[in-house]
Amino acid sequence: MKCKMMKTEIYSLLDGDSSEAIAKAAEYIRAGELVGIPTETVYGLAGSALYAEAAVKIYTAKGRPSDNPLIVHIAEPADAEQIAYTTPLYYALAEKYMPGPLTIILPKKAVIPDTVSGGLQTVAVRCPSHPAARELIRVSGHPIAAPSANSSGKPSPTTAAHVYEDLQGKIPLILDGGACSIGVESTVIALNAQGDGCIILRPGAITREMLETVCGNVAVAEAVTDPGKAGDKPQSPGMKYKHYSPKCSVILVDAPTDEAFIEYVNRNGQGKFGVLAVEEETDRFSTGTVLSLGKREEEAEHARRLFALLRQADDMELETLYVRLPARNGIALASYNRIIRAAGGEIVKLS
Ligand code: TXA
Ligand code: MG
Repeated sequence: MKCKMMKTEIYSLLDGDSSEAIAKAAEYIRAGELVGIPTETVYGLAGSALYAEAAVKIYTAKGRPSDNPLIVHIAEPADAEQIAYTTPLYYALAEKYMPGPLTIILPKKAVIPDTVSGGLQTVAVRCPSHPAARELIRVSGHPIAAPSANSSGKPSPTTAAHVYEDLQGKIPLILDGGACSIGVESTVIALNAQGDGCIILRPGAITREMLETVCGNVAVAEAVTDPGKAGDKPQSPGMKYKHYSPKCSVILVDAPTDEAFIEYVNRNGQGKFGVLAVEEETDRFSTGTVLSLGKREEEAEHARRLFALLRQADDMELETLYVRLPARNGIALASYNRIIRAAGGEIVKLS
C-alpha cells in the first residue's frame, strides 16, 4: 500500500502550555491517524492500539515488516488490565520500574487487534514516564501502539528533527519534547511460566542487575549479544531484523585497553572515517573525525548519545566509523546490543 504525502507539522511542547498540542494529537489518534511523540527512551510513531487500520498505517509509514509486533503504551501500570492478562510478577516489577523504560510481554486480550501484535497472542505493555506521552494516552482515551519513529532499519530517533527526517510527508504531526533523556529503547522482557523470573529480549535502561532486585531469576536471550542466534522463530520478532544501520560501515573493535583501540584506529583509519571515543581520549586520534560519547565512566550518557551519533556520522558523510565494543553489564549491554546490529555482527578482536 502506498501512503499519500501530507504536510507534517511540528508542535513544540517546550514553550508554555502544551495542552493544545496534546489535544490536537489526541484528535488524530482517535481519528485513526499517526503522530510522532516524545518518550523518555526514543521518539515513538503513535497510533491507536485499538484500531487495526492504525497499525497498518504504522507498518506502512515505517516500511516495517508486519510480523514485527508493536509495543502498546498505557498511562498507568494498572491499565494493563484493559489489554492483557497480568500476573503478580508484573505488578512487582511495575511497582519498582513503571512508569519507566520497561516493556513486559503478557498474554493479550481480544481488544488488541492481531495486526498490532504481529499475529502473536501476546502484547508488549509499556507505561512510559514521559509526561507528554502519558498525557496523550489519557486525553485520547486510547492505549497507544508506538514503535520507534524511524524508517525501518535506520537508527532510532532521539529528537523531533530525526523523526521529521524519516517521516516527513507521511504523518500529519510531530510533538517536539526536545532530546530524549535515555536515548535507547526500553528494556523488553518476557515473564517465565513459573512466575518467578524473566528473560531479557532487548536490553535497555532497566538493567539485568535492576531486574534481579525483583526477580529471582533473570536470563538474557542469546540473540541479545549474538544476532546470528535469533533464528527464524525468535522469542521477539524484532531480534531477527537488521537494525540501527547507519549508511557508513561500522567497524566494531574489541580492544583490551583504550590504548589498543586508539593505536588500531590511528594505524587503520583511511579516507572519510570517524571514531566514537570517550571524552578523555578525543584528542588522541591523529586523523579522522572524532565524535564524543561523553565521559568514560558515564555509560548511560554513551547510550543516550549513540543513535544521534550514528545519524551524525551519516550527515557528515563519513564512510567508516570505528567504535569500541561496549561492556556487557549494566546499561552498557544496551549499547552493546544496538552497536553489534549496526556493525552487522562483525567484530575486530585485538588481543
Ligand atoms: O522505548 C521503546 O520501547 C520505544 C518507545 C517508542 O516506546 N518503542 C520501541 O518499539 O522501541 P519498537 O517497535 O521499535 O520495538 C519493539 C520491540 C521489537 O523488537 C518487537 O519485536 C518486540 O519489541 N515485541 C513487541 N511485541 C512483542 C511480543 N508480543 N512478543 C515479543 N516481542 C515483542
Ligand atoms: Mg525500533
